[in-house]
Amino acid sequence: MAFDEVLNLAIKLESVIASGPIVPTVTPQEIRRHLARYDFAKPLAVGEVVADVEAMLRKWQVHVTHPRYLGLFNPSVTPASVVGDTLVALYNPQLATWRTSPAANEIERHTLGWLGGKLGLPADASASFTTGGAEANLSAVVVALTRAFPEYGEHGLRHLPAPPVLYVTGEAHHSFNKIAHLTGLGRQAIRTVATDRDLKMDLGDLAGQVARDRGRGLAPFMVVGTAGTTGAGAIDPLPELARFCRREDLWFHVDAAWGGAAVISPKLKGWLAGIEAADSITCDAHKWFSVPMGAGMFFCRHPDAVGEAFRGQSSYMPGRTAGPVVDPYTSSVQWSRRFIGLKLFLALAQHGESGYVEMIEHQARMGDVLRESVERAGWRIVNRTPLPLVCFTRDGLVARDFLAALYERQIAWMSEVRLGDEAPVVRACVTSFRTKESDIEWVVGEMSRLALHESEVTA
Ligand SMILES: Cc1ncc(COP(=O)(O)O)c(C=O)c1O
Repeated sequence: MAFDEVLNLAIKLESVIASGPIVPTVTPQEIRRHLARYDFAKPLAVGEVVADVEAMLRKWQVHVTHPRYLGLFNPSVTPASVVGDTLVALYNPQLATWRTSPAANEIERHTLGWLGGKLGLPADASASFTTGGAEANLSAVVVALTRAFPEYGEHGLRHLPAPPVLYVTGEAHHSFNKIAHLTGLGRQAIRTVATDRDLKMDLGDLAGQVARDRGRGLAPFMVVGTAGTTGAGAIDPLPELARFCRREDLWFHVDAAWGGAAVISPKLKGWLAGIEAADSITCDAHKWFSVPMGAGMFFCRHPDAVGEAFRGQSSYMPGRTAGPVVDPYTSSVQWSRRFIGLKLFLALAQHGESGYVEMIEHQARMGDVLRESVERAGWRIVNRTPLPLVCFTRDGLVARDFLAALYERQIAWMSEVRLGDEAPVVRACVTSFRTKESDIEWVVGEMSRLALHESEVTA
């Protein structure tokens, strides 16, 4: 059966990648020279082209599925999810309406319903798969604007009685800057709320800014709390933010693009308490749920507001499907829709909830191992989070140079991050369910040797 072959290939590739280099050294010129042979003038044997492309991918990319990729939130992928994506490409279902793809739509609904329940949302909450977290965050802002300003949909922002403003911290994802541009709010509509020493939103500053903005005749409408910031894994104080937003009649969005998966873990879910009170939530399956890109999810407890924000009609589109169903094109940004949810459905079905809990708790445990190991080796940890993301430095360290040396020796892939106004530090995040304690101990040992070598060279 063809899918066993895909599965076997996925499993074989896993060990090939794990034993190879993590970081490529290649110039754009080298790749462009190689691609010059593809002038598309005449047909080529596809088998040879596939082999060539695979060789290029193997040689010329940072291997995010490598057990020593300690990077941005790009995961190792479960083989079942790879099979899921292949199946989708083969059948190419169009999910815009329920009637064109009943099976696919119901599989997505079923999967989203499971996670919506874990997030503590009511059964009638709206939920849809998105291309990623950025689209989910965009959806949240559009729905929040629609709810707060009924005239926004027909007349746009220029007809509103007061300029809308929204509140994030400096640690929130940069997608909100683009979203402010895209929606016409403008970047000036974003207020950056101060953070405490753990990089969590400071409620006093939030309250002060909201009051001052109202005093100036502006219209605060939304607060974004992040559950697992991109830079440091900080979790904003969600219960307090939920209470504040309810009291002040503000939309409360939780960007849990990465951290949201922790709700399924009995050990970790307490850290996300308060998420169940959100008006809307972003959670990405293509992060901690370990499925291939792009698979974001947008949840909203106000299906009526979602329907109003994304309603659409046209002579070439079918009318609303009858019955107790929602046509996805009327409840999301997209029209043509890939069957995004199958990869999560298949992986969940294969591993079961308990298998997924084990994968997530394993990575959290590896985060603890990394934290302890780095500290024991004399590095200074500069962030605090229960999630597997560790930011660290040492006196005199130039993060960029250190990382370049780390890549050159193929020790690991980590990144550089600037937290607040501080100098850049090293950021290491466990994103692979394949990362083992021995990988971490080896990496930290090599890092120490490298730091010693660098200090001897510069002495
Ligand atoms: C907290 C957070 N929100 C949103 C996003 C955007 O998600 P995506 O890359 O899936 O669009 C990211 C990406 O890393 C993120 O870390």
